[in-house]
Amino acid sequence: MTDQTQTWIEKDKKQLHPVYHPKSHANPLVIERGDGVWLYTTDGRKILDGMAGLWNVNAGYGREELAQAAYDQMKELAFTSNFSGMTNLSSIQLADKLAGFAYEGLNTTFFTSGGSEANDSAFKTARYYWKRKGKPTKYRVIARRGSYHGITLAATFATGLEKYHAMFGPAMDGFVHIPAPNPYRYEGQLQDGETVGQAAARELEAAILREGADTVAAFIAEPVMGVGGVVIPPDDYFPLVRQICDKHEILFIADEVITGFGRTGEWFALKHWDVKPDILSFAKAITSGYAQLGGIQISDAIRETMESAADTEAYMHGYTYSGHAMACAVGLKNLEIMEKDEYPNRARELGKRLLEGLQSLTEFPFVGDVRGLGLVCGVEIVTDKTAKTADPALAMKIFKAAEERGLRSRPLGNVLAFSPPLSINEEEVDEIVRRLGAAMDGIE
Ligand SMILES: Cc1ncc(COP(=O)(O)O)c(C=O)c1O
Repeated sequence: MTDQTQTWIEKDKKQLHPVYHPKSHANPLVIERGDGVWLYTTDGRKILDGMAGLWNVNAGYGREELAQAAYDQMKELAFTSNFSGMTNLSSIQLADKLAGFAYEGLNTTFFTSGGSEANDSAFKTARYYWKRKGKPTKYRVIARRGSYHGITLAATFATGLEKYHAMFGPAMDGFVHIPAPNPYRYEGQLQDGETVGQAAARELEAAILREGADTVAAFIAEPVMGVGGVVIPPDDYFPLVRQICDKHEILFIADEVITGFGRTGEWFALKHWDVKPDILSFAKAITSGYAQLGGIQISDAIRETMESAADTEAYMHGYTYSGHAMACAVGLKNLEIMEKDEYPNRARELGKRLLEGLQSLTEFPFVGDVRGLGLVCGVEIVTDKTAKTADPALAMKIFKAAEERGLRSRPLGNVLAFSPPLSINEEEVDEIVRRLGAAMDGIE
């Protein structure tokens, strides 16, 4: 390591990093530049970013068009209030572009700066809706164990991963967790003849009945669970979820913060199962990470309750940066790029290649499962393939060995995640597999 890099690392101690523990930031990669799928460190290393940052840099690094869009908009108008009585052109244009873009009937967008704020907005909007419908007791949210929904107080306790709760209790009231439909290791009980999808959907109905449908506002789910270990649901799960939500008058919130904007091979992932949510949370790839932007889209039925609200029933919710002019301009340009280059198709085709490549690694005795949908894949590391015993320590070793070979993945418990830029080419996909294979080869 160069002296200069050592100095940067010392100075870096003055900032508190996300999900901080001193051990995890003792020796960070200091990144100074990115180009396509490649990251360059201050000490001269070149790293293939198999995670597209945090699942979000879909268009890849160093896109001149996005920098230009930000520059042009900032010069014209970087920001102005989007609160009552004012709006700006790029937020108008982006909301117009997004109307019906993800799902038919979701024509209204509320903008945030990221995914946690999007989910907080989704929860508040669900509560708002039920109050307007004369059912104010409906406030609870059902989520799944293993889910990740963000880091505001509400999103933290919607998240179904204990480690995010441990130091921040007491838990917020109103969040209930049920098993996720994980086909490789389903933690719930399977009844005779039941599929994992049916069993996990049955758990949703059981939770609604247990809590009382008159207390439940919404169910939230990531179509493909990301941080919880890249869990791809069986095909029968989401159609059943939709039916159950309709039957009990529960809003279905799709958290597509990772899966939105082409990642899984469809523009939005519930399309794989021909299912539509009532509220959609999005963020990350809307700008490919070039600006901080997220939001929710709401059904026409929810929008209608706002239009007919009394003066005392205003939707008193909004962020300073809701509809940020520069961020929306970047979002518009990024969408143009993703449409022109047909990113969902790229994700489908290159995702197939990545999945097949990673599946060839099941010859290693510790690779228990390899799964993927489009360009998001998970490699599950186990000590014993039959018992499926999770081995997070070995996963961490492989992650570090891969990083030494210039490949960035993300260790999520015992699962190594891959979610590269959708701008990746075939050789770069093969390079991910080659470097990971080499890292595994070197493991004792
Ligand atoms: C599914 C999901 N929802 C919400 C979030 C939170 O988004 P943000 O970090 O932009 O607040 C994330 C972040 O990784 C996520 O993966």
